[in-house]
Amino acid sequence: MTVLLFNASARKHGNTAALGERLLTGIPHTTIHLMDHHLNFVQDNRDTGRPQADPTDDYETLMTQMAVADDIVLATPVYWYDMAAPLKVFMDRWFDSYTNGFPFQGKRIYLLVVGADQPEIKAAGIANAIRYSCEWLKMDFRGVATVTADGPNDVAEMSTLPASFDALRLNLEKIV
Ligand SMILES: Cc1cc2nc3c(=O)[nH]c(=O)nc-3n(C[C@H](O)[C@H](O)[C@H](O)COP(=O)(O)O)c2cc1C
Repeated sequence: MTVLLFNASARKHGNTAALGERLLTGIPHTTIHLMDHHLNFVQDNRDTGRPQADPTDDYETLMTQMAVADDIVLATPVYWYDMAAPLKVFMDRWFDSYTNGFPFQGKRIYLLVVGADQPEIKAAGIANAIRYSCEWLKMDFRGVATVTADGPNDVAEMSTLPASFDALRLNLEKIV
C-alpha cells in the first residue's frame, strides 16, 4: 500500500502537519507540503479547443505520485472558514486529470481539518466539498477528523485527540 499525506498548511511544522503525522504514526508514507510546489490556477479549456493540461508547473509531478497511491490523506488548516488555498488550487486542477482519464477510481481519501474557531461547525463545508468530490471521481471517502487548535504546537502537545481522529486511524489501520 502506498500512502500519501498532502499538507495544505502554510506552516510546514504546524498543527496540520502534526495531525497528519500523528494519523500516520508507524505507517510508511510520503508527506508532500503543497507549499513547496508551484501550482497554477486551473484553466477551463472546454470551449477553447486547447488541451485540458498545463505542463508548466509541478502539478503533473504530484499526480505521478498520486497515481501510485492507494491511501491519500488531505490535511488542511481552516482559512476563512474554508480549506486552505493550496489544497483548493490542487483540487481544482484535478479537472485536468479527470478530463484526461486519470485513475482516481477506488483511491481512499482521509480528511484532516484543523481550525481555531469551532471548525467542526463553522468549517463543515470542507468535508462536504471533499465528500462530493470523491463521489464525483469515484474515490472512497473514508471520513474526516476535525481538531481545534491555533498555536503552532497545539496538536503536537495534545495528549488526546477527538474520537473522530481515533476512528479515522482505526479505519486506516484496518487497510494498511
Ligand atoms: C490566513 C488564515 C486564516 C485563518 N482563518 C481561520 C478561520 O476562518 N477559521 C478558523 O477556525 N481558523 C482560522 N485560522 C486559524 C488556523 O486555522 C489555525 O491557526 C490552525 O491551527 C493553523 O494550522 P497550522 O498550524 O497547520 O498552520 C486562520 C489562520 C490563518 C493563517
